[in-house]
Amino acid sequence: GGVLCVVGARPNFMKIAPIMAAFAESGIPARLLHTGQHYDEAMNQRFFADLGIPEPDINLEVGSGSHAQQTAEIMRRFEPVLDALRPRAVLVVGDVNSTIACALVAAKKGVAVIHVEAGLRSFDRSMPEEINRVLTDQLSDLLYTTERSAATNLAREGIDPSHIHFVGNVMIDTLRHNLPRAVPVAVTLATAGVTDSLAPGGYGVLTLHRPSNVDHAPTLTRLLATMKEIALQLPLLFPLHPRTRARIREFGLEKLISDSRIHLLPPQGYLEMLGLMRDARLVLTDSGGIQEETTALGVPCLTLRENTERPITVEEGTNTLVGSSREAILATVADILATGGKAGRLPEYWDGQAARRIAAHLSGWLKLPCART
Ligand code: UD1
Repeated sequence: GGVLCVVGARPNFMKIAPIMAAFAESGIPARLLHTGQHYDEAMNQRFFADLGIPEPDINLEVGSGSHAQQTAEIMRRFEPVLDALRPRAVLVVGDVNSTIACALVAAKKGVAVIHVEAGLRSFDRSMPEEINRVLTDQLSDLLYTTERSAATNLAREGIDPSHIHFVGNVMIDTLRHNLPRAVPVAVTLATAGVTDSLAPGGYGVLTLHRPSNVDHAPTLTRLLATMKEIALQLPLLFPLHPRTRARIREFGLEKLISDSRIHLLPPQGYLEMLGLMRDARLVLTDSGGIQEETTALGVPCLTLRENTERPITVEEGTNTLVGSSREAILATVADILATGGKAGRLPEYWDGQAARRIAAHLSGWLKLPCART
């Protein structure tokens, strides 16, 4: 019985934290399984501690690999756990390889699949996450969405509307809950050994990790050269994802970031990142979650991608899609520095109560007779 909740990679942790808390609060029996997709202290343990996520009941310890290897290994190791635990449902969040792998195993065993953050679409199948999103939603029995556009996407793919529930954004539950605990920028810089003091509003934050931006030498070179130009006007703080760090070394691009106004940082904890973003003049990113967090914080965001699966952050929030062209990026930065950028408003149901809405709905659903055998 109960709900088996699955996490694997960094962006899953801030989504599962409020869900586990809401389940505990409303008496929904739940266990937590970690696939081990992310395993470094800085990418993993730190988030559990900072966000008060219970220790996982099970860790599959899969680690890194190609997509096929990683996905297959998660599936192989997940199956016997599912057989042993026999949960009423498996809950997956987001769009990482752990999400699709566990959803696929559960669906074929006749265990109900619950997807939190369903229906987001970039319409770009070259993005591994898009494939994970489309397939996970096809396998899901209950689909909880963060923005209304998701239901339209799901309807187009033939998903029964009675399985779709708009509940809002659990990641923003975490943001609102933790904002008072955000680590001040000065503390984060001191910890990283950065001696320059950067006043609130006096710096930008940069994050890059998507394969489409960092695995292709000409693109990464152009992006980093553009960042060097931006740094002339606004110092940048650049927490480095392990993938990006490896590519910069591999392509010999260290020179482009060895600028006194680009401060390299190790991967940051959640509370540190929250502090950096809250007080930033602007954020440049190719992350999915950061597009939403900057909208919730009201901080201008430039998304270094051609598309977004989170259109509400552009339509209502502070996000601007700038791609990877130097001209587009510099023009938008100039506009933000001159005018302050888009003010934006808070999207519907990004109010800190999304996980409670899920728990309330799920409590009723779990009382229904088993939909599947
Ligand atoms: C994964 C997710 C991506 C998410 C990102 C956030 C998929 C398909 N991608 O991408 O959606 O935005 O996490 O970080 O699931 N590595 C470490 N330490 C770790 C984990 C990874 O050094 O703890 C390095 C390894 O060299 C590894 C590489 O990072 O090969 C990539 O890790 P992987 O989990 O495959 O994908 P991410 O790029 O992190």
